[in-house]
Amino acid sequence: MGCSCLVGSERTLDDVSLGKKTMALQKILITGISGFLGSHIAKGLIDAGHAVHGFSRRPCSLASVSCVQGDILDAEKVAQACEGMDVVIHLAGVTEHDALVGHPLPSFEVNLIGTHNVLKACQEQGVSHLIYPSSGKVYGRPKSLPIDEQHPLQPNNLLGASKRIIEHIISFTASSSDAAFTILRIFNIYGPGQRRQFLIPTILDQLAMGKKKVVLGDLTVKKDYLFIADLVEAVKVVIAHPGNGLNIFNAGSGVSSAPQDILAILGKLLGRKIEVESTRERLRPEEHYEERADISKLSALGWKPKVSLEQGLKKILQMEKDLPLAGD
Ligand SMILES: NC(=O)c1ccc[n+]([C@@H]2O[C@H](COP(=O)([O-])OP(=O)(O)OC[C@H]3O[C@@H](n4cnc5c(N)ncnc54)[C@H](OP(=O)(O)O)[C@@H]3O)[C@@H](O)[C@H]2O)c1
Repeated sequence: MGCSCLVGSERTLDDVSLGKKTMALQKILITGISGFLGSHIAKGLIDAGHAVHGFSRRPCSLASVSCVQGDILDAEKVAQACEGMDVVIHLAGVTEHDALVGHPLPSFEVNLIGTHNVLKACQEQGVSHLIYPSSGKVYGRPKSLPIDEQHPLQPNNLLGASKRIIEHIISFTASSSDAAFTILRIFNIYGPGQRRQFLIPTILDQLAMGKKKVVLGDLTVKKDYLFIADLVEAVKVVIAHPGNGLNIFNAGSGVSSAPQDILAILGKLLGRKIEVESTRERLRPEEHYEERADISKLSALGWKPKVSLEQGLKKILQMEKDLPLAGD
């Protein structure tokens, strides 16, 4: 990335409001735009007035988005997609736990070589800001809570390990570039349209199927859950504050909750007691620790999560419409 100036968009002359601040409109490419995060972030950035472009294996479903269709391993297609962009948000990658564990090499290839292709294309095309979604899993078992960005990086699963390697590659690239690089260490995002293998969709699907008892793994382990709309706001904030060189921020809620807490809230929202059972098959002993993000660094840019776990779960029930809320 040879240029720290904003390039390629006449719309950068305009401003839109971001809370009390203003944000220059930009030409933004989102790789993985058809995924969970990509589709929500695209909508949020379009609503904020940005010119959003996509890179996807599938045809883009958003009407106002022009999309390059291709595989992230196709370096030429990636370069074509990055041409003329101010900002690239690189979300394309293998995310399913089963794929990462069952087929680590092809998954690593997509995640590592794919990111290499994006970094190279950004450099060649003069993109001024790259945003990459790392994970709270880079920290591994916390030595202290809440976990701030200085916490040692000791990932203990494949996702965390691959994110740590990618962070190194980005850091290395940033050290010889004028462009801005933002790494968001994202904790557990939930919201409408999430892939079904994650905890909250797993609970909702079992309830929607009319199961008498919800079957889960560990019921007590506490994780940090952030509602997708709050992540979209975090992305808007880091676009408005590219900074210099490499900047790393935690993106979490700063609150930790156990599956038991989620079930209690859902029971209240649905107006019934939810029976639950824990099975060995669903346990992930390597992840048996409390996780809670220190979000003061990102909050210093003017961002803070606005959606509580109860409000977020209610929004999912209202939007997905598979389960009636109590009183509806
Ligand atoms: N969700 C979270 O809680 C969370 C937390 C921390 C970090 N992150 C990171 O955020 C990023 C996006 O996550 P997500 O939850 O939105 O995942 P997702 O729903 O699985 O979306 C991933 C996207 O990547 C695309 N993709 C996969 N392989 C590709 C390839 N070879 N070429 C082109 N595109 C490819 C997929 O395309 P198809 O649509 O064609 O399958 C999909 O649109 C990932 O890097 C993930 O690790 C997510």
